Amino acid sequence: MSLREKTPPNVVILGAGFIGLSLAAAFRDAGFIVDLVEPDMARRAAAPEGIRLQEKAIALAGLSRDGNGSLTYFGKALPAVGHAALVLECGPEDLAVKQAIFADLLRHAPPGAVLATASSAIPISRILPDPTAQARCLVAHPVNPPAVLRLIELAPGPGTSAQTVSRCAELFRDGGFTPVTLGHEVEGFVLNRLQGAVLREAYRLVEEGVTDVEGIDTVMRLGLGPRWALSGPFETAELNTAGGIRAHAARLGPAYKRMGEARGETVEWSDALVTQVEAQRRVVCPADQLAARAAWRSEAVARLVALRDTLMGKRDGTNDA
Ligand SMILES: NC(=O)c1ccc[n+]([C@@H]2O[C@H](COP(=O)([O-])OP(=O)(O)OC[C@H]3O[C@@H](n4cnc5c(N)ncnc54)[C@H](O)[C@@H]3O)[C@@H](O)[C@H]2O)c1
Repeated sequence: MSLREKTPPNVVILGAGFIGLSLAAAFRDAGFIVDLVEPDMARRAAAPEGIRLQEKAIALAGLSRDGNGSLTYFGKALPAVGHAALVLECGPEDLAVKQAIFADLLRHAPPGAVLATASSAIPISRILPDPTAQARCLVAHPVNPPAVLRLIELAPGPGTSAQTVSRCAELFRDGGFTPVTLGHEVEGFVLNRLQGAVLREAYRLVEEGVTDVEGIDTVMRLGLGPRWALSGPFETAELNTAGGIRAHAARLGPAYKRMGEARGETVEWSDALVTQVEAQRRVVCPADQLAARAAWRSEAVARLVALRDTLMGKRDGTNDA
């Protein structure tokens, strides 16, 4: 059932900074009743223009749903949270501020409301150390700008109920997002752990004089980036190697392991781990569909490169080679 056929849920967004504005625009466009709470008068006054810019970005990305939602501005969380199905805390990245907001939410939000924080780095178990207080709370970590990059990482605490996680995922799906639910809390969630691994190595390569900043950015922009825009590291490994994940692990695993060990990282590419990854890949893409997917990817990379070069106003792929 589409959101148009359901009673539109209320989403209360606390904070009209960049993240709050961007999420508000996305949920309103998807048809939700959005209440945006911003205590700072100047920020509240600037919010409609911020929303307009986010809506423009949504349209540019071809994501507009025109779901006929609504957006109302408030200076205080009450009474808005009284009707909430989902509260998204998008206040400053400050533990004490988030703790005060969540203490208030636990008192005033309806019992069925999901209470989520957009925090980049503070797990719910630090905001609410008592697991019994975490049942309807979790982290919903967006990617900037969330109006366009529609991934949301859901990071439950030890006390978050399974029902809270599934309801939160459902609401974000209805809002046009793809949720990825983490098995447990981990610093940096998934996105920043992957980004951190790349950045750590980038800094090391510059420090060692292997290349410079321009070299790193060029390798990413012209090499890894276009492929990763279409397929993640596991799919990329599989599509680049005849024989798939297992063949890739056998061929390149030892070299990657050596590189990791030289950096003090001792992850085993064990047979059990490779088997687990391969089994999960087969669920996403059965073996008999790999060749078709590889052909699709080749064409999509070509189209993406053409679009990138058009956007950059030059054929720098050939200039930099
Ligand atoms: N900016 C990013 O790239 C990014 C990405 C992912 C997650 N996040 C996280 O999202 C959250 C918001 O980020 P941002 O960049 O929009 O922050 P920001 O500091 O720009 O905006 C926070 C807003 O919250 C308001 N605020 C303060 N106290 C409040 C309260 N009690 N109730 C409601 N609003 C209140 C502030 O006036 C401000 O307008 C942070 O936790 C941040 O770590 C940010």
